[in-house]
Amino acid sequence: MSSKPKSRWASTAEDAEFEARQKKEKEERRRKKAQKLEEEEKKKAMLAAAAAAKASETAETNDDNDNDAASSSSRPSKRRKLTPEPPNNSSSPAASLLRFDVGSWKPSRSVDNYDKLNDIEEGTYGWVARATELASGRVVALKRLKLEAGDPNGLPVTGLREIQILKNCRHRNVVAMEEVVVGNDTSKPDNSIFLVLEFVEHDLKSILEDMPEPFLSSEVKRLLLQLTSGVAYLHQNYILHRDLKTSNLLLSNRGLLKIADFGMARYVGDPRPKLTQLVVTLWYRAPELLLGTRSYDAAVDMWSVGCIMGELITREPLLQGSNEVDQISKVFELCGVPTEDSWPGFRRLPNARSLRLPKQSPLASGSVIRARFPNLTAAGASLLNSLLSLDPDKRPTAKEMLEHEYFRQDPKPKPESLFPTFPSKAGQERRRRHEPDAPVRGQAVALGDVDFSGIFQGRDKEERGAGFSLRMV
Ligand SMILES: Nc1ncnc2c1ncn2[C@@H]1O[C@H](COP(=O)(O)OP(=O)(O)OP(=O)(O)O)[C@@H](O)[C@H]1O
Ligand SMILES: [Mg+2]
Repeated sequence: MSSKPKSRWASTAEDAEFEARQKKEKEERRRKKAQKLEEEEKKKAMLAAAAAAKASETAETNDDNDNDAASSSSRPSKRRKLTPEPPNNSSSPAASLLRFDVGSWKPSRSVDNYDKLNDIEEGTYGWVARATELASGRVVALKRLKLEAGDPNGLPVTGLREIQILKNCRHRNVVAMEEVVVGNDTSKPDNSIFLVLEFVEHDLKSILEDMPEPFLSSEVKRLLLQLTSGVAYLHQNYILHRDLKTSNLLLSNRGLLKIADFGMARYVGDPRPKLTQLVVTLWYRAPELLLGTRSYDAAVDMWSVGCIMGELITREPLLQGSNEVDQISKVFELCGVPTEDSWPGFRRLPNARSLRLPKQSPLASGSVIRARFPNLTAAGASLLNSLLSLDPDKRPTAKEMLEHEYFRQDPKPKPESLFPTFPSKAGQERRRRHEPDAPVRGQAVALGDVDFSGIFQGRDKEERGAGFSLRMV
C-alpha cells in the first residue's frame, strides 16, 4: 500500500491509480460480504428443506399407515401439515422445500387443448379416454386423476407420486407422460387434473381375454423380456411399481410393451421407509405382503412378474383368490407351504402367527408348477419357479432375469415387428375387466386382522391341482 495519503482531488496519474485500486478493493469486500450473506441464506433454506423432507417422509409413511388407521378404528388419523408456512418475503425458499427439481416446471396448460374421442376405461383411481390434441391432431390418452371431494389433503399422494414418477421416467417400456393439463374448474374433483399419456392401442388383459389362440412361446418371451427391462429400469431408479398386472401393461400395434398405471408406485430410498402392505391387486400380490410385512422390496414386483408369466402362457390369471385368506392358500397350493428352510423367518411376519400349516409339506418344490405348465421347457419352469419363490430373497432381480437361459433357448424371442396385430378396443367401446380392483386407500386390513388359522380347513384328504393333497394338522 502506498504511504501517500488518500486525496479526493487526485490529479496525478499515480493518484488516479491509487484511487482505482481502492475502489476495486472496496468492491471486492462488498462482493464477499454479499456472497457470505447469500451462503448463509442458502444454508438456512437447506436446513428448512431437510426438515420439510423429513416431515414429508413421515407424512408418506403416515399416508401408508393411514390405511391401517382407517380400518382399525373410526378415530380420525393424525395428519401432518405438509404445506410450509407462507413466506415472509417474496424471495421465499418455498421452491427449495420441494424434493425434486422444479426448474423445468411451468404452469399447466388447459385440457381444452384436447378433444375427447371416446372413453377407454374407468379404473379405481382414474378415468382414461382417447383424445386428440387440437393443435397437432396427435392422438393421446387422457387419464383423469380422481380427487375426493372435500379431501383435506387436496391432491392425493398417489396422484402426486404418479405425476412425479412418470415425469422422471424415460424408457421405451414405460408409458411416456407428455404433460399434465388442468380442467377449467379445479374446484370440481371430476374436472381437475389430467395426465396426457402417449396413446397405446391395447392392454394385455384385453388381448388375452379376446385372442382366439394363446401367445406362442416366442411371443411370451419377447413380452416378458420387455416387461422385465421396464421393471429393471424402474428398480434401478429406486421405483417400486406395486401394481404390475396384465391390465396395467399396454401393447402397441408394433409389438411394443409399456408399463403403465403408476398410481401405486413410489420411490424407495435407503434406509427403507415403512410401507403399506395393501398394495398390488390381490391376484398378483406376493406372499410376504399377504402375510403383512411392512418391509418389502423390489421382489414384490418380481412375484407379480411371475404371475404375469403364468397368465401369458395360459391366458388365465394364475392365482385367483377371492380374498386374502383364499389367495394365500392358493399360493401355498401352487408353491408349497413354507418351512423355516424354504423361507427362513416367515413365522415372524405379522399374519403368519395365525397360520396353521401341515407339519410337512407333501409337495416337492416346483412339482405343481411343472405339472400346471406341461409345455414349458425346463429352463422356463425353473424361471417361473424362482419368480414364484415364497422367500422374496430367492426371487431373481429383474436384471438377473434378463440374463436367464430361458430367453436364449429356442424358440428365440420373436422380434417386435413380427408381432400379430389385434383390433384395438380402445378406439371402440370401454374395455371390460374381470379381475379384482387395485387396492383402495383406507380399506386396508389392519395388521393381524387377517385370520389365517383356518386356511386349510375342510381340505383334509382333498385332492387339488395336479394330484397333490394338503392335510390339515
Ligand atoms: N396410455 C394409454 N393408452 C391407451 N390406453 C390406456 C393408457 N393408459 C391406460 N389405458 C387404459 O386404461 C386402463 C386404466 O388405466 P390405468 O390402469 O392407468 O388407470 P387406473 O384407474 O389407475 O387403473 P386401475 O385402478 O384399474 O388399475 C388401462 O387398463 C388401459 O386399458
Ligand atoms: Mg390400472
